[in-house]
Amino acid sequence: MSNNQESWGSRLGLILAMAGNAVGLGNFLRFPVQAIQNGGGAFIIPYLVCFLLMGIPLLWVEWATGRFGGKKGNHSTPFILHELDPGRAIWKYIGVFGIFTNIAVAAYYCYLESWTLNYVWMFIQGSFNGMGQEGVADYFGSYISLSGSSTAIYFWLLCLFLNTYILSRGLSGGVEKAAKVGMPMLLLFGLFLAYKGITLKGGEFGAILDGTVGLNYLWTPNFDTIWNTKVWLAAAGQIFFTLSVGMGSIQCYAAYVRSKQDIALNAMSAGWMNEFVEVVLGSSILIPIAIGYLGVDRVVELTQSGGLGLGFKTLPYLFTQWGPLMGAVAGICWFGLLFFAGITSSLAMGTPVMAFLRDEFGWKRGPSAWTFGLIILILGAPTVFFFNEGVFDEYDYWAGTVSLVVFAFFEVILFAWVFGMDRGWKEINEGADMRIPVFFRWVIQYVTPVILLAVLLASIPDILSKIQNPGNVYIVGARLLLLTLYAGIGYAVYVAYRRRVTNGGKAIHNK
Ligand code: PHE
Repeated sequence: MSNNQESWGSRLGLILAMAGNAVGLGNFLRFPVQAIQNGGGAFIIPYLVCFLLMGIPLLWVEWATGRFGGKKGNHSTPFILHELDPGRAIWKYIGVFGIFTNIAVAAYYCYLESWTLNYVWMFIQGSFNGMGQEGVADYFGSYISLSGSSTAIYFWLLCLFLNTYILSRGLSGGVEKAAKVGMPMLLLFGLFLAYKGITLKGGEFGAILDGTVGLNYLWTPNFDTIWNTKVWLAAAGQIFFTLSVGMGSIQCYAAYVRSKQDIALNAMSAGWMNEFVEVVLGSSILIPIAIGYLGVDRVVELTQSGGLGLGFKTLPYLFTQWGPLMGAVAGICWFGLLFFAGITSSLAMGTPVMAFLRDEFGWKRGPSAWTFGLIILILGAPTVFFFNEGVFDEYDYWAGTVSLVVFAFFEVILFAWVFGMDRGWKEINEGADMRIPVFFRWVIQYVTPVILLAVLLASIPDILSKIQNPGNVYIVGARLLLLTLYAGIGYAVYVAYRRRVTNGGKAIHNK
């Protein structure tokens, strides 16, 4: 059957799936750590500016290009971009980013996601009780370095299997259902933990400081570092990562939106839901609790050495201070919340890959999903086995940071300047259930491209120094692997294009 007919089951389902795409481990693990690393209150101003001038405009651009491409039966960025400017060959190959990034990010993201499953299991068994702070940190260290046992590998495989299985059930039957269960659970767990974080009392259950100390540390504005480019780059990077813009996954989800259905308000609902979860819930759990027990200095020190691990190295011990029952409830809520946040995002990374295989090669849903799983297994293996050699971080740097900005830059130029802002603005407003201030038309056309260019230029020194100093042979290998992946997808796009030419310009499934 043609997958042209596939679409979202309901508006609520679409918004939850899109919010699930955006709300991820980035909101709970990456955001608080980025904020602390970049000076706490100094970070929030650039962060909000980037949200307003890059995040929101890009959300509209991506939803609009996705829905536009979907009308013609294109569901992944190579041919969605091609549709915006059919006369030029180059866009298809720039669109390769929208498949490449999803695969490369999923490759390390699924590993991180699998840690959360293991931690839920540890809490169910009560294994953290009596371990002590050092014991918990040691457990994390030996878990990710695979020394001692192969448990991490089993949980990783389980996680890959779950993702692949849900993807094979399709959009409304798999992804949308997962979001309808996952998002409400996440909000519930998040509100409970945020309440515990904010009301934490120094002197009770072993805490030394009130939860509000951490909150204040995080949010007292500090203008000292406001002109520091490093802080701006980090803020821009976080906005990209958390909203999933510059990835190709929003375009893909939007390509399954019906042609006259609203995108203006839907994009805002999902985007603002993400910001609520990030800024309100994401700030109120990890940092207030960690600072409440460990003090500001120790937490700042811990974030400097390996950021993403903070929630795994500290919270299990802190939760056990609340007694066996409350500790287990909090632990299951925290790691369960991370799991739901993670899986609704990794599913979004699988969808563009499947859409490409289905559109261009006429594959069925099942085989496309299992192929995605297999690719992630192969590409993810180096992040699992050479985690300590820096392969995981290397993927995050090239795919999870640099690629997003590069792709977003080309995409907004294509949309505003090649496709044209008149048509573009009409596309965004077609079927809109809200009035978008005209201010944003101007922002999309001038401000967003200029800021993106500035971010790119400002990152060049860092990119060059990374290229010159790879560090070790595993990192060189990881880079070659990522380059090969990009080239391989490029070749598949080329083959797909040749097939389209012989098929009268249409995707195979439209025949
Ligand atoms: N936005 C997700 C997060 O915050 C990550 C993500 C990136 C999801 C790209 C989908 C695509 O964790």
